[in-house]
Amino acid sequence: MSLTTLTTGAAGFIGSHTVLELFEAGHNVICVDNCCNAYHDKNESLPESLKRVEDITGKKVTFYSVDIRDKKALDSVFKKHKIDCVIHFAALKAVGESCRLPLQYYQNNITGTSVLLEVMADNEVYNFVYSSSATVYGDPTFLPLTEDHPTGNCTNPYGKSKYFTEEILKDLCASDKNWNVISLRYFNPVGAHKSGRIGEDPNGEPNNLMPYISQVAVGKRQLLKVFGNDWPTHDGTGVRDYIHIVDLAQGHLSALSKLLKGGTTGYAVYNLGTGVGYSVLDMVKNFSIACGKNIAYEFAPRREGDIASCYASTEKAADELGWKSKLGLKEMCEDTWRWQKNNPNGFAGLKSDL
Ligand code: NAD
Ligand code: WQD
Repeated sequence: MSLTTLTTGAAGFIGSHTVLELFEAGHNVICVDNCCNAYHDKNESLPESLKRVEDITGKKVTFYSVDIRDKKALDSVFKKHKIDCVIHFAALKAVGESCRLPLQYYQNNITGTSVLLEVMADNEVYNFVYSSSATVYGDPTFLPLTEDHPTGNCTNPYGKSKYFTEEILKDLCASDKNWNVISLRYFNPVGAHKSGRIGEDPNGEPNNLMPYISQVAVGKRQLLKVFGNDWPTHDGTGVRDYIHIVDLAQGHLSALSKLLKGGTTGYAVYNLGTGVGYSVLDMVKNFSIACGKNIAYEFAPRREGDIASCYASTEKAADELGWKSKLGLKEMCEDTWRWQKNNPNGFAGLKSDL
């Protein structure tokens, strides 16, 4: 069945890869983004990531440069198209920045989502997939993390904005049985599409491990600081559940199938992870193999708010969504490297070399 999906935050890392997979599966996609964290040359009609999705898929992207907090503009998008479902990626996501700018984060991530939900209800669209995060679990009290692990013990405004939004969605579904909502709790998305044409393009110094390593490999950064070597893990460095972005994107298609074939299901939550944890040093070693270079690193103090280990239980997504990750660490590193090597300056590319 071909669906029309409105995707917010479509020009971002996860959004662009998911739009690509939606096209490949034969769906129609309406893309919305204000490009506060995506490269858009204003002489072009599309943000660069979506232009490349057009090139790769041969499909025409319908794009609206709209802020999700702008109710009127958002409503006009819903009035122009017959939308079956919404996948909501748009958010600010930098943990450190959220501690400095909490109101901006709550405004964008919580108010923005509330406005979107109001516009959906006004237009009688009730199928919703939300980008949540493993960060809602806080410091795990047991591993692997099952979906019923307690949530809400987040240490920063970004994480809290994800937790509060989940609570809003739960209340909304309890209040009105029309709603059909799935929150997907992503673990650590990495990698890039096989083409090497789209990938993660952080602004300035990366906050996350994988883009940091790949920028060291390409010569943009001198060395990686490894935050702590005294964690209770196999080699003393932090352990995470890294998941290939293409697997993650495909998880959204499985969530949509579940929403649209099962009738009203109310509210449900699924982990999207691999179930396998790798340490920082495992990542450095495997990336070195993929790029054929040494990754310079030094040990540094622990980063505030970090935890030792975090990895998913993948059973619920496998049983109820029929989804499982397929790609391993080798592909995650090789595909990140292909993207980074071919696009050392990200989407701004040659324009930033001039
Ligand atoms: P990203 O920054 O690459 O993409 C988010 C997109 O949303 C950007 O293109 C940005 O311009 C857009 N946006 C932000 N605020 C907007 C607004 N008010 N109106 C319209 N567009 C807006 O981030 P990403 O990594 O692709 O993350 C997508 C979603 O997944 C986010 O909700 C994030 O919280 C969640 N998530 C990400 C990770 C991760 O590690 N990348 C992990 C867990 C959850
Ligand atoms: C992974 C590991 C670091 C950078 C964050 C957010 C979370 C989620 C994903 C959206 C840790 C270590 C990192 C570096 C390092 N985002 N590290 N040197 O912390 O699991 O999660 O991104 O929802 O909310 O908190 O991911 O990639 O930042 O770190 O040693 O320069 O790499 O200490 O052990 P994290 P990460």
